Amino acid sequence: MKFTMILATILALCLVVNGGKSMKERFLKKICSKVRSKGFVSRYADVQEVPLVGGSPAENFARFKKRFRFFYSDFAQETNYTVYKVQLDTEKVVLADPVALSWLWNNQRLISKAEPGPFKLNSLRYVPASLASNGRMHERLRRNYYKIYRHAYKKYGLEWAFNDLKQKFAASFPVKGVKVPVERILDDISIGNFAHFMYGKDWTEFKVYDQYAKVLSIVFPPTDQDDAIINKMFEEVSDTPLIKDELNSVFGRGKCKEEATSEALFSVMCVGVPGLRKAMNSIVPLLVQLKPKDRNRINEEANTFFDATNSKSIDEKLKNAKTIEKFVLEMLRYVGGALGYVTYEANQDFIIPSYNGYYRIYKGQTLILHHFAAQRNPDTFRFPDEFTLTGNEEYLKENFFAFTGPYNMKATYSNRKCPGQDLAMNLVKMYVIHLARCDIVPDSDLSFNQLNGYRTESTDAPLTVKSFVCKK
Ligand code: HEM
Repeated sequence: MKFTMILATILALCLVVNGGKSMKERFLKKICSKVRSKGFVSRYADVQEVPLVGGSPAENFARFKKRFRFFYSDFAQETNYTVYKVQLDTEKVVLADPVALSWLWNNQRLISKAEPGPFKLNSLRYVPASLASNGRMHERLRRNYYKIYRHAYKKYGLEWAFNDLKQKFAASFPVKGVKVPVERILDDISIGNFAHFMYGKDWTEFKVYDQYAKVLSIVFPPTDQDDAIINKMFEEVSDTPLIKDELNSVFGRGKCKEEATSEALFSVMCVGVPGLRKAMNSIVPLLVQLKPKDRNRINEEANTFFDATNSKSIDEKLKNAKTIEKFVLEMLRYVGGALGYVTYEANQDFIIPSYNGYYRIYKGQTLILHHFAAQRNPDTFRFPDEFTLTGNEEYLKENFFAFTGPYNMKATYSNRKCPGQDLAMNLVKMYVIHLARCDIVPDSDLSFNQLNGYRTESTDAPLTVKSFVCKK
């Protein structure tokens, strides 16, 4: 009887509660979201349309273009809406809500409508890319990516990746001076290491990567010049050991070379590299601003990797490096992955749960799955806008979408979870390990207010240093 009364009170409260900032309100909201997600309380509603600046799609779109990467998350923060509809060039339903995102990634009611620039370019229109495909084609491409990753692990392995990074750090540092820009140096280390691991060819041998990276970020229809760059990149990937010499052993006999090249190009340069280089560049400002106690723990863990008397395998050491893992996860939560959000289309009508109730989604609606905003949700994290190794640990993996998530959701051939999560986590941990052994004195502004909409690393200004000296 008593229990029924308590339950009835909770249900009644959950019908009205929308939460707030105090601990009590946040706790109640958490319980309510659990109660709603179990289906005890239903409040199906259509997603609310929210006029932005002036309410006109043209004005909204102009603001979006100015603050491209952060636009939707700014908006979620300003209004407290985490599921809303906006009119831009077309109508979009924005999901900046961890409950909604977890549900959707696990239920896969998504159709890709992505048309990433390079894959629609004139001479490469036929080139398949998993992000832009669905169904069996999508599954086939994912199987091929796994073949490339397995090959890289077998041929090189994590120990090689670690030693290669060590050599690259030794060759790139020390640097000293006034306002020495270091992002490009760090980019080269991460891209060089990853390209070699996957293709068997070092990044310095790729002549067009810089221009290629620019083409990748274009929002508007590509020009003939962009087209030429993609074609050149394609030629360079065709000329790597992976495609030139190992095509049959990696993909199986009869695999079309052009298709294999395009899959390798996509899986390494388009989706692997941006996340890795961004992570490498974000580690530095976060590491130098760490509390001494946390920094010491990271240094201690990092030193075990250079201790000749420690006979554990690199895989084991990486698994044991718990503080470094926390650092990487919290960094990817706080700064986000290379993509702040991804765009899909609903493949059927459905009801989606969220922190604030249930919403109707209709087949054909464009969905913006906004990881960056969801990972800074004040209902989920105690310090959403702070980088902290201890404060946001609780529920971190459940509410983490940098790899499209949640973190513990397994990548399969048929879902849309980042298939590179494990490799990326290991490589990014290695970046932390090497950087922890460097004394870095920055002389640029390290604040991160998302002021520069085109920058997604953890500072608004490009990173420059007075000195960057690493232990050999
Ligand atoms: C910190 C680094 C990384 C982050 C944050 C990251 C994040 C992501 C995200 C968010 C997606 C989903 C994109 C979408 O649905 O539109 C994705 C897809 C993908 N990622 Fe990663 N990724 C990282 C590193 C890697 C690496 C190292 C590889 C390769 C080994 C990789 C391979 C892929 C592939 C092939 C896809 C497409 C999957 C599909 O279309 O089904 N990623 N990644």
